[in-house]
Amino acid sequence: MQQQRKAAWPLVLASALACALAACGGGGGGGGGSATTTPPVTTTPTPPATGGGTTTPPASTTYDAGVTRLAALAAFPMGVAVGGGNEDRSLPKTPEQQTIVKKHFSQITPGNIMKMSYLHPAADTYDYTQADELVNYAAANGIAVHAHTLIWHSDYQVPTFMKNFSGDKAAWLAMLDDHVTHIASHYAGKVASWDVVNEAMADGGGGYRNSLFYQHTGADFVEHAFRAARAADPKALLYYNDYNIEWDMTKLQAVTDMVDGFKTRGVPIDGVGFQMHINMDFPSVGTISAAMKKVVDRGLKVKISELDIPINNPNSAAYKSGDIKTTYTLDLGLQQKKRYCEVVKAYMDTVPASQRGGIVVWGVDDPSSWLIQAAFNNKHADWPLLFDGQYHDKPALRGVADALTGQACTAN
Ligand code: XIL
Repeated sequence: MQQQRKAAWPLVLASALACALAACGGGGGGGGGSATTTPPVTTTPTPPATGGGTTTPPASTTYDAGVTRLAALAAFPMGVAVGGGNEDRSLPKTPEQQTIVKKHFSQITPGNIMKMSYLHPAADTYDYTQADELVNYAAANGIAVHAHTLIWHSDYQVPTFMKNFSGDKAAWLAMLDDHVTHIASHYAGKVASWDVVNEAMADGGGGYRNSLFYQHTGADFVEHAFRAARAADPKALLYYNDYNIEWDMTKLQAVTDMVDGFKTRGVPIDGVGFQMHINMDFPSVGTISAAMKKVVDRGLKVKISELDIPINNPNSAAYKSGDIKTTYTLDLGLQQKKRYCEVVKAYMDTVPASQRGGIVVWGVDDPSSWLIQAAFNNKHADWPLLFDGQYHDKPALRGVADALTGQACTAN
């Protein structure tokens, strides 16, 4: 296995980010290091107010991807993760993001606010306020919603009442069924698809993760969740979502074994989400294709559900020897363009049109990326997404467009 990332995590999100740890493990994505509460400064200065005059931002920020509407180039959902509520740069509070989302994307994934602790903070309390705001915004603007996620082990998102829940296996399953039923019913007809269960498999193979849910129900909670979600919202596409399965073939095997079992027992599932928190140098597109093919061969949809490609890879030899990019340049952006293009091309080449569940980029603009959030305890700035901190196109946007339109993937 490639360099698994090891880092000391900050308090609150340690568990949430453990997924990132592994998600970034294969050649590793984001960083580790000292906590900071300030987002990294981007390379783009805020243009001075000139009373209508022109300003000349640095070359790296004047890139025009020449893309009128990214989503128009794809016959499948083209999505982006967005914040909501009081999150930094949340969509409702950030008009510049709204402009980009409406222009380029046909789907949003709420990056946080449809997780368990937001929607179901106490046993008898469901709180849909923030999520409804986003879902309503999407509906008003003709944008679909991929909802994320009904069940996730991550400590910061497991409601306290669940942590304190006492009861036997049947009681646990009934409690989780109720959780899924309640939420999926609330959003029935309003969301296109769900990540029903997120990250249920252990890293490095061996089957299910030893999560709180697994400890109380074995693997049954997964199957229960899918059945309950289908019953509550028969039209929504139901996904199983996980990280590193684009390269960790033993972990992917656990997923495909689960899918095969579902088929045998008639458990509803429509697709598998590959999070794809990947790197510039890892994994290879050949590896990614081979992994996706295993899901394609089972007749399920493949969704790239959380794509980001940071410039720095803390687990790379270059990074460890001190080659840490602290400034975004056009040249780096062009290399990133090629990588985005190659990854999307691998998706297009591997997944038949009828099985393309879509592509979701995990954040709109670089400063809103989870990889550089304070909570991620990052050491360095990074620029993993398609738009920069001033909401300008990056070459990466052109790279995705090139792949969608069958153009060659180039770094120029
Ligand atoms: C991340 C969010 O983007 C962050 O804002 C939050 O602090 C932690 O969770 N895999 C997932 C997502 O399935 O839910 C995670 O989202 C990123 C890794």
